[in-house]
Amino acid sequence: MPMPSDQPVQKKPEPCSFVIFGATGDLAHRLVIPALYNLAATGLLPDKFCVVGITRKTMSNETLRDSLMKGLLEFATRPVDDATAQRLLNCVTCIAADPGEPASFDRLKIQLDDLESIRQTGGNRLFYLATPPDAFAPIARELGRTGMLSQQGGAWRRLVIEKPFGTDLASAHALNGELLKIVDEHQIYRIDHYLGKETVQNILVLRFANGMFEPIWNRNHIDHVQITVDEKLDVGHRGGFYDSTGALRDMVPNHLFQLLSLVAMEPPIRFDAHSVRAEKADVLAAIQTQSESEALRNSVRGQYQAGKIDNVEIGDYRSTGEVRPGSTTETYAALKLTIDNWRWAGVPFYLRTGKALGVKRTEVAIKFKQAPFAMFSCTPVETLAQNYLVISVAPTEGIALQFNTKVPGPAIRIDGVEMKFRYKDYFKAEPSTGYETLLHDCMIGDNILFQRADSVEAGWKAVQPFLDAWKKAGANGLLSYTAGSEGPAEANTLLTRDGRSWRKLD
Ligand code: BG6
Repeated sequence: MPMPSDQPVQKKPEPCSFVIFGATGDLAHRLVIPALYNLAATGLLPDKFCVVGITRKTMSNETLRDSLMKGLLEFATRPVDDATAQRLLNCVTCIAADPGEPASFDRLKIQLDDLESIRQTGGNRLFYLATPPDAFAPIARELGRTGMLSQQGGAWRRLVIEKPFGTDLASAHALNGELLKIVDEHQIYRIDHYLGKETVQNILVLRFANGMFEPIWNRNHIDHVQITVDEKLDVGHRGGFYDSTGALRDMVPNHLFQLLSLVAMEPPIRFDAHSVRAEKADVLAAIQTQSESEALRNSVRGQYQAGKIDNVEIGDYRSTGEVRPGSTTETYAALKLTIDNWRWAGVPFYLRTGKALGVKRTEVAIKFKQAPFAMFSCTPVETLAQNYLVISVAPTEGIALQFNTKVPGPAIRIDGVEMKFRYKDYFKAEPSTGYETLLHDCMIGDNILFQRADSVEAGWKAVQPFLDAWKKAGANGLLSYTAGSEGPAEANTLLTRDGRSWRKLD
């Protein structure tokens, strides 16, 4: 088996403070601290470093450290080494600040300055807002007012936020406007955790580090593209958030569009943040904006009803805590989109995502055009394999190519086969949270994997007609599907009416 070459040594970040707003929250405990722990364990934290946990109410360092340690023990992706964990947690200082009380930010500024001179972090600061999204602008305003985001004397200041970036085009535009009054675009790191996934990052490598794919990566050879993010998870305890969000807002303009833009973008001239992000933004801007009636025709939405997933009973979506009675929020969405440029004109992109489905599967399937069939017209066409290139993100991480081959024997008989590459067969990687690369990139100032304001808005612009049309239609057109099924059967008609079908998920 070919073995990977030695990895280049990763860069150690410069000294800095890692300031976490929402330090007592779920994101900090479940992802941020376990990812920092993994970075500590692999020697990728700065030598001079401090973590400042911001809480609304005053709390002792010990109390916050104990709580973060509990989170680490619960969510760590590898066995926790006590010495490494203590080294990380000893860097944690708790400071109370509340954007509703501006004086607390004036105090924070002084406390941070003092702490940084003790820890010798050189004034480099990363502010990670692990808070509900409605707190992004108020916190950023206070950080801006007190000068904590101004880059002076060679020190850098960065602001990290995580999806959702607005709830529609107007609110995303307003949020970007607010933030850009306070910081420059290059200081903002908008996280979409899909870009922390190895398989997602690998899409660029697959396309542009191999000579054989790019010549056929266009409308001359590709029939259509399917992007699937199906989840078994139901809405669970997230009813309050989810009911005002729905499957489309929760998944499409962010995660599914990250996959779409990496698959569909033009080759960047260089592998740097400016070139890659410009190409990604361009392809999102080229998604055709549909009228509301086109959006209705090119979409299917559904809501799950009671059923069983892996033999566990799941109740109706509407019976979930904090979901409004009679809610018309979709838990499943399928869309047909087109990209109006030279490479993709006439190549539909079919997207689907849903909760409480029978199978968990995240993949991009690229369907190539059918070969002229005359030569093998004696073969029943149904036995021919669909030529798919499947980039599988979850649960398997890998790439598969489906093609036709001759069945051994005297007669010409054709059958479909599959060639599979699975990451785990080639590479031994320690399990990670998927945030390590992202946090490390924030600290070394590489924003290639982060969303720029214009891409965020281009994403919302493409989904806005669907949001508007569905809002007007209300319950009209909202289908139901049984939990544990494949989603509403009508999602098939999006493709069958074009003479196509969804790839079967197993
Ligand atoms: C989150 C959504 O952004 O992504 C969740 O809010 C969803 O609803 C999750 O479950 C899916 O992420 P992944 O990595 O499990 O595909």
